[in-house]
Amino acid sequence: MAHINKNYLKLPGSYLFSTIGKKVREYQEANPDSDIIRLGIGDVTQPIAPAIISSLHSAVDEMGSADSFHGYAPDLGYEFLRSAIAKTDYQDRSCNISADEIFISDGAKCDCGNIQEIFGLDNRIAVCDPVYPVYVDSNVMAGRTGEYDPEAGRFKDVIYMTCRSENGFVPELPEEKPDLIYLCFPNNPTGAVIKTAELQKWVDYARKNGSIILYDAAYEAYISEAGVPHSIYECEGARECAIEFRSFSKTAGFTGLRLGFTVIPKDLEADGEKLWPLWARRHGTKYNGAPYIVQRAGEAVYTPEGRAQITEQIAYYMGNAKIIKEGLAKAGFEASGGVNAPYIWLRTPDGMTSWEFFDYLLEKGGVVGTPGSGFGPAGEYYFRLTAFGSRENTIKAMERFSNL
Ligand code: MLT
Repeated sequence: MAHINKNYLKLPGSYLFSTIGKKVREYQEANPDSDIIRLGIGDVTQPIAPAIISSLHSAVDEMGSADSFHGYAPDLGYEFLRSAIAKTDYQDRSCNISADEIFISDGAKCDCGNIQEIFGLDNRIAVCDPVYPVYVDSNVMAGRTGEYDPEAGRFKDVIYMTCRSENGFVPELPEEKPDLIYLCFPNNPTGAVIKTAELQKWVDYARKNGSIILYDAAYEAYISEAGVPHSIYECEGARECAIEFRSFSKTAGFTGLRLGFTVIPKDLEADGEKLWPLWARRHGTKYNGAPYIVQRAGEAVYTPEGRAQITEQIAYYMGNAKIIKEGLAKAGFEASGGVNAPYIWLRTPDGMTSWEFFDYLLEKGGVVGTPGSGFGPAGEYYFRLTAFGSRENTIKAMERFSNL
């Protein structure tokens, strides 16, 4: 008789963005004339930049000819892409990371969810609250979190690091010692950032306690201020305690193309064993690599032309972020984020819960956002808007906010 993985039954509800998608579809069906503006899931709206498209086209043509066709990609990803990443994202920023420490994948979400597989079930994880749900849910599925406490909205064996407005939504070092620490900066969902000196404290803490930091830097391209690290490897000693995840989704609009990577330094160890060979083994066994054409598209992101074009695209989205911040302030909302990140985190008005405000905003304003409580109980009474809409829709959404 077959048995299921009962850990899945511990997961409350469906995946946050699936729940939102379903609610919006139902609303749209019931109100077919409604003109809905989607600022919920962080999905980009600008087309892929011309330099990247042109690289995609030539790669597609290569695939059509026997002498330039490509089959399975190398296990870690193509060298041309890993070298471009190592140089531009790391060595040019004085981070000591080499091309063979980079594993190309089809996106940071999968890597963030899968990385826990190389760690034992007896590891204690620490996450921020609010938090990107993938870190917690993937550990629940694996059986590392204990039971769910519906009253607290938390899993019993997880160390939650509450992020409040008073501490700029940056967590404090936990008193209970975690084995695995998930950090995401610039932060999803709050849009908060951590300064280099502050991140250095986490690296020192992890090294002292033998913890591993799982650092999600998917939004680093949105950093506009000095003193904010683009990579955890800007901190001294991070090679000994950190794995980093990066994404092309938000950097270059690849949400539909799919491309990301994970960095595991060769000397990084847990239990006296190197982690690099474990992830290489997992990668080789369970994954056949991002498509050649997409890796060529990724390479174009690092050309001078590609860089200039994505910089312009990011500036466009950050222009939206500014419009949202100003619009919210004018409409009397308290909001943060949106300066080094494409997310704006606002307080719900009049003590409405996050989901009450979700319904209210959809019905009264036709705007979709993400309820803060979907990211954890500390997100209750907050709401997330993304800057990834079109300019026109962003302006329209703010007009609707002012008329709520
Ligand atoms: C989000 O809206 O939080 C992100 O788009 C989700 C993701 O990147 O998986």
